[in-house]
Amino acid sequence: MTKNREPWWKKSVIYQIYPRSFQDSNGDGIGDIRGIINRLDYLEDLGIDAVWLSPVYRSPQDDNGYDISDYRDIDPMFGTLGDMEELIEKAKQRGIRIIMDLVLNHTSDEHPWFQEAKKGRDNPFHDYYVWRDGVEGELPNDMRACFGGSAWQWVPETGRYYFHQFSVKQPDLNWENPKVRREIYDMILWWMDKGVGGFRLDVIDQIAKEPDRKITSNGPRLHEFIQELSRETFQKGDLITVGETWGASPQIARKYSNPDGSEFSMVFQFEHMELDQQAGGQKWDLEQLSFRRLKEVLNKWQTELYGCGWNSLFWDNHDLPRIVSRWGNDGRYRAESAKMLAILLHGMQGTPYIYQGEELGMTNIRYEIGEYRDIETLHMYQERLEKGYPPEEIMKSIYAKSRDNARTPMQWSREAQAGFTKGIPWMKVNPNYREIYAEDQINDPDSIYSCYKYLVNLRKEYSVFADGRFFMLAEDSEQIFAYVREDEKHRLLVVCNFFEEQADCGLQAEWEGMELVISNYKDAGGEMLRPYEARMYLARK
Ligand code: GLC
Ligand code: CA
Repeated sequence: MTKNREPWWKKSVIYQIYPRSFQDSNGDGIGDIRGIINRLDYLEDLGIDAVWLSPVYRSPQDDNGYDISDYRDIDPMFGTLGDMEELIEKAKQRGIRIIMDLVLNHTSDEHPWFQEAKKGRDNPFHDYYVWRDGVEGELPNDMRACFGGSAWQWVPETGRYYFHQFSVKQPDLNWENPKVRREIYDMILWWMDKGVGGFRLDVIDQIAKEPDRKITSNGPRLHEFIQELSRETFQKGDLITVGETWGASPQIARKYSNPDGSEFSMVFQFEHMELDQQAGGQKWDLEQLSFRRLKEVLNKWQTELYGCGWNSLFWDNHDLPRIVSRWGNDGRYRAESAKMLAILLHGMQGTPYIYQGEELGMTNIRYEIGEYRDIETLHMYQERLEKGYPPEEIMKSIYAKSRDNARTPMQWSREAQAGFTKGIPWMKVNPNYREIYAEDQINDPDSIYSCYKYLVNLRKEYSVFADGRFFMLAEDSEQIFAYVREDEKHRLLVVCNFFEEQADCGLQAEWEGMELVISNYKDAGGEMLRPYEARMYLARK
């Protein structure tokens, strides 16, 4: 691949849509592709360049579409292939690319490949999946699945166990099999022909598993597989590709996002999102965020990928709780803290992702257990109950970390069901929708939405956002997050008070002579930063 100019996607901002919760168009209570088409005005106004669409393929919906039974069709719940083509086309007319979610580590157990594979070990599709011989009741080893239980499932017809890193309905594909890889490449080329603008690669670091050695992520053949995948598909087009890589270090990320284009455009890694859980525990084992660690981790990624890799910038997605509830303040300072978190993140190097509703400051939920829908949450609840955890303690973890926090319907208006559906929503709307909704914010220059919109535009206007070198300031401060970005043309300064108590930042000399381009308080303010205050300054050289 020749790379003699900076790729277009370095200046882009991506908006993630979780289709079932975005906009319902036909009153069945489930968001759909037509609903997204009807909301293109909104996306265009926000100024984003691409939409990452969580999976809309045909699926039994065991894991909300991350269990695909036909990669070349759309689930009727979301619409038709024709709707999808229309979305790609209409989005393109507005300069918005559609990024499809590729789930290549596993399929649904209802995929025809698996239906064949489980018929017997001589079936031509058997080797599309990962099997081990055994006798019933004697597991090949003690590996656990991410959604609870053993990673092995017995199939009597074959006398073998299949391997699944996620639910029992998500059997792992066997990437060692060249036929599997070829099928996948053909499918990707088929979508590329339809004009999609890119792909997000679901748990891609787990494809090269070696269960006999208990290896799941970063298996020995991982980069060989990814390079072949990239060569056979992505490199034939002008795409944006992003690998979901939970277990990446900056060193590994340099491979994934090598500027030579041999793997992906960028990584989507989570080190900064795992700082409020107990060491060695699961995300459910809560611990207060270590602010010092957050600064260290973000600094490390900004510095160690500079010039040799590319990162995603995000606080939220469909697997994470709402950031304003998590590390901001979803009460009195909801607007201030949501904007502070946006300003802090959007000044950095990388590609920013805005997850639906984040731009409105949507918050976490506290529902009865029966109102949760997420397979991971429900499995964990059962598992911990059986282990004897008190229900209140389990609920506390769910309030803090359940994926359903991010999956409540999008809050469009203060009409019934937040304008999301005319029917009964598949999951209960957050009861605060009469205070937090898009219509209220779109034309309000002081809204969280307008703050995001402004940040999106700044990135397009000034090269320093994409290119500038990163320098951390006030490194030892327990309260201030401050940094500088610098390229030949500009100097950018971001100063944030991450907490509710006011803080003397001692950085006045840094912003002397600079222009304040955005802040979350109406008047400029001085050395003392008010609760969650954030400011961004710019100077031309
Ligand atoms: C990824 C997805 C998540 C899904 C899992 C299994 O982490 O983001 O939603 O459950 O992979 O496909
Ligand atoms: Ca619908």
